[in-house]
Amino acid sequence: MPGERSRFIRARVVIPPALEEQAVAGLWDVGCLGVQVTAAGRVARLTLDAYFPGLAPRRRLAARLRCSLLQVGLGPRARPRLSVVRAGRWIEKWQRSLRPMPIGRFLVVPEGCDAAAVSPRRRVLRVRFGQAFGTGEHATTRMCLRLLGAHLRSDERVIDLGTGSGILAMAACRLGAGRVVAVDDDPAALAVARANLGDNGLVGSVKLRRSDVAAACQSGAFDLALVNIGASTIEGLLPHLARALTRGGRAVLAGLLIDDEDRLLRAAAGCGLVLLDRRRLRPWSALVLRRP
Ligand SMILES: C[S@@+](CC[C@H](N)C(=O)[O-])C[C@H]1O[C@@H](n2cnc3c(N)ncnc32)[C@H](O)[C@@H]1O
Repeated sequence: MPGERSRFIRARVVIPPALEEQAVAGLWDVGCLGVQVTAAGRVARLTLDAYFPGLAPRRRLAARLRCSLLQVGLGPRARPRLSVVRAGRWIEKWQRSLRPMPIGRFLVVPEGCDAAAVSPRRRVLRVRFGQAFGTGEHATTRMCLRLLGAHLRSDERVIDLGTGSGILAMAACRLGAGRVVAVDDDPAALAVARANLGDNGLVGSVKLRRSDVAAACQSGAFDLALVNIGASTIEGLLPHLARALTRGGRAVLAGLLIDDEDRLLRAAAGCGLVLLDRRRLRPWSALVLRRP
């Protein structure tokens, strides 16, 4: 619906400039589509405006934001104020600026970009933007795409936990995965993922499910799990992941900061998962764990 596509939730939070990097990471962690940073006065404070899909349930979003900002080191007084806004100039500018992005073995082609971008060497992923995280712009998605290219073997069973736009599930299909299940608890994200599957001719290749990620781990055994979702959720998910992976199965984890690595690796070891690979794009980290 055009009205809903041009509606966004803005979360405004005012922070000391020294905490900008952590705060922006905390906002991305919750799945924002873009962040605008404004300095006021003598730059004693920064105002961050983070934009989220207009259909996101607001109460849940507010709770996730508070939790995420606390985790990256902002005190409890950094309470984001939420309001509904129409797509402003920043959205139009951002959308116009999107170009086809070569990422590892893929070419991510944002909606509206020229089909001439089709590359014979790279697998094309067409992605709509606007109401779900996962346009290929964000460092965490990019690292997942690269790690997927390096660690997926053909015909493997894949689960994409927190699929957002569906970009990682589609990428897995393009590389010859067998069964692919993609899960999200946000109906708006699932609607975008469904549309993206259609645009890419992958309806029927990916089973989309509305579910919490922990519950979805009970839906079978998987050779590869893709999880780009934020450190706290990942930490709680590790025991479920360990049970869902086959022997030799791997989990690509992203959405965590470099500072989160040690804590997550200790928790992973407690679940019998070992580190196989790692990528970093400051301040973000992505880990590949293996069940021996
Ligand atoms: C950062 S986005 C990742 C999107 C995409 N996989 C990517 O890599 O770009 C995280 C997604 O996880 C979903 N999510 C967060 N917590 C969840 C939970 N507990 N259960 C199911 N989905 C969740 C959000 O709705 C969001 O779409």
